[in-house]
Amino acid sequence: MKICIYGAGYVGLVTGVCLADLGHHVKIIESNSNKLKILRSGKATFYEPDLERLMERNASRLIFEACLHELHNMDALFVCVGTPEDPATGRASMQQIKIVFDELADLCVRTGHLLKKRVPVFIKSTVPVGTNQEITKVLERKSVSGSFLIGSNPEFLREGNAINDFFEPDRLVIGASCDEMFNVASKIYRGLALSEAQFICTDPATAELVKYTANSLLATKLTFMNEIAHLSEKVEANIDQVASAVGADKRIGSAFLKVGPGYGGSCFPKDTKALYEIAQDHNVELSILSSVISANERVRSRLSNLILDRIKRDGRKVAILGVAFKADTDDLREAYSLEIIPLLLSHNCDITIYDPAFIKGSHHSLFPGCKFAQSSSEALQDADIILVLTEWKEFGNVRLVKTEKEPFIFDFRNILNVEEHDPGKFYRIGIKQGNGAVE
Ligand code: UDX
Repeated sequence: MKICIYGAGYVGLVTGVCLADLGHHVKIIESNSNKLKILRSGKATFYEPDLERLMERNASRLIFEACLHELHNMDALFVCVGTPEDPATGRASMQQIKIVFDELADLCVRTGHLLKKRVPVFIKSTVPVGTNQEITKVLERKSVSGSFLIGSNPEFLREGNAINDFFEPDRLVIGASCDEMFNVASKIYRGLALSEAQFICTDPATAELVKYTANSLLATKLTFMNEIAHLSEKVEANIDQVASAVGADKRIGSAFLKVGPGYGGSCFPKDTKALYEIAQDHNVELSILSSVISANERVRSRLSNLILDRIKRDGRKVAILGVAFKADTDDLREAYSLEIIPLLLSHNCDITIYDPAFIKGSHHSLFPGCKFAQSSSEALQDADIILVLTEWKEFGNVRLVKTEKEPFIFDFRNILNVEEHDPGKFYRIGIKQGNGAVE
């Protein structure tokens, strides 16, 4: 099939490349000329394991364009542009969505597409509930609604695991008002060989709410564990063992029970706030979600206070392992490092960063005043304090060389092997023994 993807970001590029891998011919529209140049050279504009290999393998079925010139032989369109949080309102900004549909309407009129077959358009961006309806009204006002079928196809891709999540989804959700859309979606995704139970057909509003609910529930689950971790320290329990014993209950499940420096990324922070605002607009109080949002902020400030307290005692040469919002990505959006690094710099700390996704120099300007190491051992040299902020697998094998003055370790992912380290010289979240940094 011939498919057009609007937006070559974390969702659009992965979706387009994976659809090409399923055998479709994919045109990806990217309005940013610099990104377009990188994409046309066969490179991805962000770190995602295995993505460039897939781009190369499917180069013959992938085209990158600045805009769409015709609609008539498109079998389907996916809208994968960003809907970032509008800081003024906490709501999802619909600006990029609006640009896409204005372009489609103009294209329709320009190419006289009104009379030919209706083009299925799946909105994959995370959009407020009711967006499908709104878009349909906009197209009606522009007298081009007869040329499109609008539906929702939310994505559940995790950065760093996105390709696997695309090819092995737990479910596919299609929200539409006519069987034609469900049939088109079934044809597009046929290569995934999903079971009937995994192919969920529903109405657009339900599909839109599924996306927000899924992310908010995942954010709630891990935030609950981050709060229990604080109690776990006080009662001298072990949160990792609590998580595995609790997660063994199939009703709870073991995923998203890992403690850390609070959730970040481009989705949980914005989607939780956006869902809260959507509910407010309908006079519904999502009190649990509101608590999750504030709890996540409290989790981070508690950890920051532990660190600030420690630098007074142990020194200001700080090594940071991992600055992205999690492992296996170079995405810094809402990463805890963006909060703690300025704080440490304001306390005259000397910071060296090592993050496997940040080896290339291009990212280094993002952290002025910090040095970048090419390896963990280089970063750890002579450090007074070590912060582990992401859970890269290689951090689990970091050798803590015995030195005269042992650095104090804040392992916020409970990933380091600290067995040979002085118990009074490390802190792991939710684990009492060795928590030298008790409040
Ligand atoms: C999330 C959803 O998982 C995905 O389905 C959706 O499509 C997009 O948003 P992503 O934001 O890429 O994906 O990352 P995810 O792996 O979900 O992690 C989100 C945040 O939660 C990260 O900061 C991560 O470190 C944190 N997290 C996750 C934990 O602290 N503990 C966990 O057990 C899992």
